[in-house]
Amino acid sequence: MTIFEALQHAMARLPGESPKLDAEVLLGFVLGQSRTYLYTWPERELTASQQSQLNELVMQRAQGVPVAYLVGKREFWSLPLQVNEHTLIPRPETELLVEQALERLPQAGRVLDLGTGTGAIALALASERPDAEVWAVDASQEALQVARANTDQLELSVRLIHSDWFAELGGQQFHLIVSNPPYIAEADPHLEQGDVRFEPLSALASGADGLADIRRIIGQAPGHLHPGGWLLFEHGYDQGNAVRELLRGAGFSAVETVQDYGGRDRVTLGQWGTHG
Ligand SMILES: C[S@@+](CC[C@H](N)C(=O)[O-])C[C@H]1O[C@@H](n2cnc3c(N)ncnc32)[C@H](O)[C@@H]1O
Repeated sequence: MTIFEALQHAMARLPGESPKLDAEVLLGFVLGQSRTYLYTWPERELTASQQSQLNELVMQRAQGVPVAYLVGKREFWSLPLQVNEHTLIPRPETELLVEQALERLPQAGRVLDLGTGTGAIALALASERPDAEVWAVDASQEALQVARANTDQLELSVRLIHSDWFAELGGQQFHLIVSNPPYIAEADPHLEQGDVRFEPLSALASGADGLADIRRIIGQAPGHLHPGGWLLFEHGYDQGNAVRELLRGAGFSAVETVQDYGGRDRVTLGQWGTHG
């Protein structure tokens, strides 16, 4: 079977919104080649073992397994990141949180990423700001292993800590705390759909209204923020109002919600105390 035929064959068996892209990524992965290669050498023959590996991957994808888990990687902020079934697959929307954090991080500032997963946010910040001191925590040891592998691979500096939010951070204080925490309501039917079905529930669901972790973090963050420091969250499109109220209620000022490129509420932030 040639590369051209393998692509056609895979596409025909793949469901979902992007069968062409999925087929290209999976075949590229099997051949260890870029997508461009597939169209430069369409007449090249696959070996029997490449064909059977592709068949196996296409079958798993047809059962819904996310492409990122099948190939073990996903790009975020132009950084190639390892992912596995213990980590959330980093989403492009989360780049908005990185942009907002970069705007507020002072020179040589200390920043904490709560619930780092693959390390996506912490590594994006470390890559942009080598002057910053970047810390990241996660409650999942397996996710931390992935974050550590990504940190080493990218040769960036992030201090990784196994912790239930701030529990293991002692009296550490930061200029900026950033988090894409679990924020989906436990009974939300989206948890049973698409790629999300295969992602760890502990990375996604947060109490009856999806706000349990955001509440806990807001309750504890003031003890870990320098005066004038910022707390920034990613959250669901319908949670902006609730998160603003929670931040104001806890005494944060300059509270605002930023929308993503689709015009949906996505990031809410606030400032603790005053510069001093
Ligand atoms: C939505 S995922 C975000 C992952 C990554 N920051 C990203 O944006 O791709 C939430 C992360 O929070 C972690 N987490 C959940 N509960 C936690 C807790 N109590 N303390 C620390 N981390 C927690 C999960 O293991 C998961 O990695």
